[in-house]
Amino acid sequence: MSASPTQGSLFGLDALFDNPLFAGGIGLASLGAAAAFARKGVIVALGAARRRLLVNVEISKQDPAYPWILAWLSQPRHAHGFIASRVTRIHDLSVTTTTDSRGAGLGGPATAHFFLQPGYGRHIVKFGSAYIAVNREKHSTANMNTGEPHEIVQLTTLWAHRHAFEAIFAEAHQLAAKAHEGKTIVYSARGLEWTPLGDPRKKRPLGSVILDEGVKESIVADVKDFLSKQQWYVDRGIPYRRGYLLFGPPGSGKSSFIQALAGDLDFSVAMINLSEMGMTDDKLAYLLTKLPKRSLLLLEDADAAFVNRRQRDVDGYSGASVTFSGLLNALDGVAAGEERIAFLTTNHIDRLDPALIRPGRVDMMLRIGEASRFQAEQMWDRFYGEVDQDGHGKKRFVARLETLGLFGKYGDGALSNRHTSTAAIQGLFLFNKDDMQGAIDMADGLIPRSFKADDVATEETTKTTL
Ligand SMILES: Nc1ncnc2c1ncn2[C@@H]1O[C@H](COP(=O)(O)OP(=O)(O)OP(=O)(O)O)[C@@H](O)[C@H]1O
Ligand SMILES: [Mg+2]
Repeated sequence: MSASPTQGSLFGLDALFDNPLFAGGIGLASLGAAAAFARKGVIVALGAARRRLLVNVEISKQDPAYPWILAWLSQPRHAHGFIASRVTRIHDLSVTTTTDSRGAGLGGPATAHFFLQPGYGRHIVKFGSAYIAVNREKHSTANMNTGEPHEIVQLTTLWAHRHAFEAIFAEAHQLAAKAHEGKTIVYSARGLEWTPLGDPRKKRPLGSVILDEGVKESIVADVKDFLSKQQWYVDRGIPYRRGYLLFGPPGSGKSSFIQALAGDLDFSVAMINLSEMGMTDDKLAYLLTKLPKRSLLLLEDADAAFVNRRQRDVDGYSGASVTFSGLLNALDGVAAGEERIAFLTTNHIDRLDPALIRPGRVDMMLRIGEASRFQAEQMWDRFYGEVDQDGHGKKRFVARLETLGLFGKYGDGALSNRHTSTAAIQGLFLFNKDDMQGAIDMADGLIPRSFKADDVATEETTKTTL
């Protein structure tokens, strides 16, 4: 029995499949689909295998380990074996240049150090028996504060070699520590981030800062005692913070002492100038919660916050500088960091508020004053100790300063109300290197010059009358 024409029009598929062209098309399409499916399957399987067999570590530029890893990668290493040495060649490099003028004569060129590191892109390095794929990438997004593009370094290795990462990070850290050995890093706030201010400086020996008798020793002992008592604070639930306020006239060695102390403790310095433009309460509070590890916080010109006593406006704008309440909150408000050693400095103690001197904000207050006789003698020894073995020159120098009344009174005890600074004495000695007689002869240059408005006015009047 043959199919009726109506059936044929409804179920004409048979006829369609009988058409060799159509059947061929379907065959091809299903082959293509199967191939695509298989390809996808392979990709998924490879992805899964990669996830199971490989380990990735991503380090972003914000992480402190980023420069360490780059430095570690740029180390020269020799891979043994024909294939290994070819595979691990780095073809794309980038350079960071630092210059210093040490050793350069007058007008001579500065010395430059070129630091080559792997450039952007993919590289392979060998660490022990492990091959590590390195991918350094610059993203199209940027850090909102600094405007710098985001960057990452990705290290990939076989799951079986995952322990190599620990060793790599340890080695990179050790390398960085070695490079900074004998150096003090000074961080300053750039936007909302702490960035090293220039290259790490050579540690300043504590002995090179000469404070009045016992002052230096008392601060150093207090800081060391605090550092050894962390567990005591933790056990009692007290925030582990300590604050010092150093006040006194300019050029008395406050900043130099803090830098030297940081070097002695193997700490870095995180510095904020409170009178700096653009430093606001919010910024200060945020920065203090993100202090670099093992650093002394140095807040210069603390009085700046007290001049600006204005509270926030209704719209929350607190002006371009830090307010008094902003400083107090940053120091020990709810959001203040848990661990911190802060040094505040000021030239105008009279402008500060007693509310600042409270445990947790400022625990110890010290005046670093004008040069005393003790300091003048110590500084003399540091500069001329070798040429003035019998101490004769020192005696004459100190006697001359006394005659000039530079320690507050004259030799006969009468008040002179005249002082000089340690910075000025250092300046005098630097001017007369190896020439102690010159330093004694020029000692009257230490008499502070006053620039009174009256002087200028009289000068001008004289000029006009002439
Ligand atoms: N007591 C000191 N011992 C050794 N060097 C000193 C001393 N005081 C000042 N100097 C020298 O004088 C210069 C200025 O010192 P420093 O910047 O530490 O002073 P300061 O007290 O912080 O001043 P300011 O209040 O203006 O910030 C530095 O080069 C430092 O070496
Ligand atoms: Mg200073």
